[in-house]
Amino acid sequence: MNAPVFLCQSDELTDGRYREFTVDATDEPVFLVATRYRGEPRAWHNVCPHQGRALNFAPDRFITDDDGRLVCCAHGAVFEPDQGRCISGPCQNAELKAVALSEKDGQLFVEL
Ligand code: FES
Repeated sequence: MNAPVFLCQSDELTDGRYREFTVDATDEPVFLVATRYRGEPRAWHNVCPHQGRALNFAPDRFITDDDGRLVCCAHGAVFEPDQGRCISGPCQNAELKAVALSEKDGQLFVEL
């Protein structure tokens, strides 16, 4: 496993808000979406399991439903914010690919 890579300041992630990040940790940039769920940070590859598209509709802009769940902009798959599992839509029960996170001294790091 590679060394942890800086993602963002801890206060950049809040419950119910999804943020887009590009991390240069390997040979190619890695595209991520991150949020908090009940205060705990969560991050996944920004790739919908339905057709492999990005989940956002514009830079750093994501659709959420009334309960703060992430909605894929392409065909409306809805992902619960704990495990990133699709609970509704064309890829039901599929999961976003999770990324390990660590938090230290007010900063968040990803382990790719
Ligand atoms: S690509 Fe996300 S629902 Fe189709």
